[in-house]
Amino acid sequence: MQEIQAIFDYYKEKNGNQEELIACLREIQAVLGCIPKEFQQKIAELFGVKVTVVQAYIKLYPSLKEQASKHIITVCNGPRCGNKGAQRLLRELKQLPGVQKGEIEVKTQMCMHHCATSPNIKVDGVLLEHARMEEILKRLQ
Ligand code: FES
Repeated sequence: MQEIQAIFDYYKEKNGNQEELIACLREIQAVLGCIPKEFQQKIAELFGVKVTVVQAYIKLYPSLKEQASKHIITVCNGPRCGNKGAQRLLRELKQLPGVQKGEIEVKTQMCMHHCATSPNIKVDGVLLEHARMEEILKRLQ
């Protein structure tokens, strides 16, 4: 948790305004994948606000979350994968009930450097070459 401590140390020196609080939340989420309850009180103390204020910001910003997604799907956003159906898969993936509930995070990455096997998609870090929806769904089970 050295990274988290470094974030806390950095923001301890700041004046604790709203923008910095949100930036701090984003940095913690970038490291942990979410902003766990056990860190919310410490963040509140750091910025001199009530923990309910921190929780309100987490609820206010859809990109911030209290619990990490169970699965992360990364869709290649490069031109070769796009021509082979990655954009269609991306649209379909965003419609999955698990995505709507926040259990599955769908994001994009520019060229995964496996263009010959496009479309390429990663499910929880595992690369699926020539990705098909059936295979993706199987990985999510
Ligand atoms: S464009 Fe998808 S791997 Fe290169």
